[in-house]
Amino acid sequence: MAMKRTSGKVFLVGAGPGDPGLLTLKGRKCLKTADVVITDALVNPEILRWARPRALKIPARLRLPGKSRTAVRRAQQDRINRLMVRYARMGRNVVRLKGGDPFLFGRGGEEAEVLASSDIPFEVVPGVSSVTAVPAYAGIPVTDRRFNSILTVLTGHSVEPAGSPNLPWKEVPRTGTIVILMGAERMGHILRGLIRRGWPESTPCAFVRRGTCADQEASSGTLAGFMDLVKDRPGIFRPPGITIVGDVVKLRGKLDWLQKNRSKARS
Ligand SMILES: C[S@@+](CC[C@H](N)C(=O)[O-])C[C@H]1O[C@@H](n2cnc3c(N)ncnc32)[C@H](O)[C@@H]1O
Repeated sequence: MAMKRTSGKVFLVGAGPGDPGLLTLKGRKCLKTADVVITDALVNPEILRWARPRALKIPARLRLPGKSRTAVRRAQQDRINRLMVRYARMGRNVVRLKGGDPFLFGRGGEEAEVLASSDIPFEVVPGVSSVTAVPAYAGIPVTDRRFNSILTVLTGHSVEPAGSPNLPWKEVPRTGTIVILMGAERMGHILRGLIRRGWPESTPCAFVRRGTCADQEASSGTLAGFMDLVKDRPGIFRPPGITIVGDVVKLRGKLDWLQKNRSKARS
């Protein structure tokens, strides 16, 4: 009688935003025992040093010249889903390594659904999200009781340049801190949307690119100042980056610990 092979398990692991030290202990433990690791483009490759040398390492990113971005994303996601199910059914343990936290704007929920409906056992290992870690590395606490009691996280992805945004602007608060992910390429539309929504042009804001990584870059100003920058030099805000809007940005002057430590180390 043929024995049914036991399924492997899939671990949806948050890799953190870039600094390898921000991978959780649980995430590292999963990596150490995985047979297959499927990695997102934003994951710092240095993290793979904790995977077994013999583990099969598969980059999730596909290059399909001539195809639209949407078509590439769909093909990429279908392939990831197929790979996770296929290797788990072969009895392999799979780590699906995702940037930041897997359940925050990362399609982690959709991947978990595929596993659930394919009867593949899985675990979710939350990660340190860029939402809080990237501002923190630029000296910005996303909440501070002196300034805000509301924190809003938006995806710039849903802001359409055509003026028919999927983003429900009317539901965006006019106060507190706003953190915008995936907005670098639509910065002008996002800033305009916020100002139309009632945010004063003088509101402090910051943009942090490749936060927590060795080449982190950060700049701060006001909504109006950032608008001028985008007008003068379209494309100045390059992905991957996070925009932080609100009075908490003012703290950066005092709290920009990484920059200060780097300057000290150089002198
Ligand atoms: C698809 S979302 C994934 C978010 C992720 N799940 C998380 O919890 O951080 C990718 C976006 O996260 C932001 N992001 C991720 N890592 C970043 C980093 N190191 N520096 C700045 N922004 C980052 C950028 O806005 C990027 O476009």
